[in-house]
Amino acid sequence: MRILIVGNGGREHALLWKLRRDAPGASFFATMPNGGMRPICTPVEIAPGDIEALSGWAASNHIDLTVVGPEVPLAIGIVDRFESKGLTVFGPSQAAARIESSKSYSKDLMRHAGVPTADYRTFSNLAGAEDWVRERGAPIVVKASGLAAGKGAVVCFTVEEAVNTIRSMLGDLAFGEAGREVVIEEFLQGEELSVFALTDGVNCLILPPSQDHKQVGEGDTGPNTGGMGAYAPVSISSDALLAEARTRVFEPTLRAMAAEGCPFRGLLYAGLMKTNDGIKVIEFNCRFGDPETQVVLPMMHDSLLDPMVTIAEGGRVKDSLARAQAGAAVTTVLASGGYPGGYENGHAVSIPSNLETDSCMVFHAGTSFEDGRLVTSGGRVVTVTATAPTLAEAAQASREGASRITFEGAFYRGDIGWRELSRHDGGPVG
Ligand code: AMP
Ligand code: GLY
Repeated sequence: MRILIVGNGGREHALLWKLRRDAPGASFFATMPNGGMRPICTPVEIAPGDIEALSGWAASNHIDLTVVGPEVPLAIGIVDRFESKGLTVFGPSQAAARIESSKSYSKDLMRHAGVPTADYRTFSNLAGAEDWVRERGAPIVVKASGLAAGKGAVVCFTVEEAVNTIRSMLGDLAFGEAGREVVIEEFLQGEELSVFALTDGVNCLILPPSQDHKQVGEGDTGPNTGGMGAYAPVSISSDALLAEARTRVFEPTLRAMAAEGCPFRGLLYAGLMKTNDGIKVIEFNCRFGDPETQVVLPMMHDSLLDPMVTIAEGGRVKDSLARAQAGAAVTTVLASGGYPGGYENGHAVSIPSNLETDSCMVFHAGTSFEDGRLVTSGGRVVTVTATAPTLAEAAQASREGASRITFEGAFYRGDIGWRELSRHDGGPVG
């Protein structure tokens, strides 16, 4: 089997890692692979967003399955293009990818389908948005409607902050086209959970839930990032909660999309908040989460490839929960100094050769080779996943692994999993 992975971040490295275990005899290809993926696949030097060139390459190179990692190629129609050439591809169509690429579409869909989510309004006009914020008061959340690399949601604790955020999005286009329309929504309180469902458009195979750490600083402080670490399992996600997610979130969303003529086939990511009023959807994504994938896939007991092929070929998966491995997984992201703001690329990265073991995986994100040297080439550089019998052990091993990787300006959060650990120990971990 010949498998092409589109994308070159930590998530795609983890997908490559898992699919290689599922299909040791397959040949793997990846678009412009990072420094960790490059030695274990055949590089395809075509950018993930160049869907015309990629679909042509996949057709002439007899690719049996293409797995699309990032949202941008999905949002510009990579799946439609591949399918028009008779290729088998895992991911949603462009129309279905709007569940992530347009927050206003996704919120309207949830409203019509009766899916629990924060109360909201959508604006493209500054005065209307400001009036509504003044009427509602703070805290309130302002979101760019379009794609903003995980940084387009701003939780505002004062009306002034919300007004300034709206002005920067709608007035100064600080988020470019993504912020021409903003969704302003009610602030929800509770704990977040990332739930991934492999879906054929009707049925869902729900993967082990995980928890991301979106804020840059320890103790969940500072601005949002793409994600600084993740862990699984999460004890707040009982089977009852997952049953609620299936019947109140996934099923009505999929039914509504199918009824609109854009069934969602692929990986549907529900970012949920467990509130005192039950679960509510914070956001949907049309792809695997990053860095959650770096813990969810190591926790998956069975094949990922089998349901992916079934879904990509138009078959049905069983409504079920994926079996999880025993124990826990924690991943810690090492980021470039300055991230999520500006940062420098090109710093030499040193990873001890004995760091990787059966229970410690180094997934590369923003690395590349320059004159044969491994260097930084992104905000999130590598993620270190450790698995262990307990979450405390996995967290410690992940943190220790991260401390052994060096590059100029490197930083990481040493507290990944702190909520879960404080539940176990009865107090926060230091
Ligand atoms: P999003 O890009 O929509 O996932 O939002 C990024 C992060 O902002 C979420 O993971 C939450 O931590 C926070 N957030 C988003 N929407 C809300 C909300 N309505 N209430 C509270 N926090 C939110
Ligand atoms: N970790 C959040 C995301 O992938 O959107």
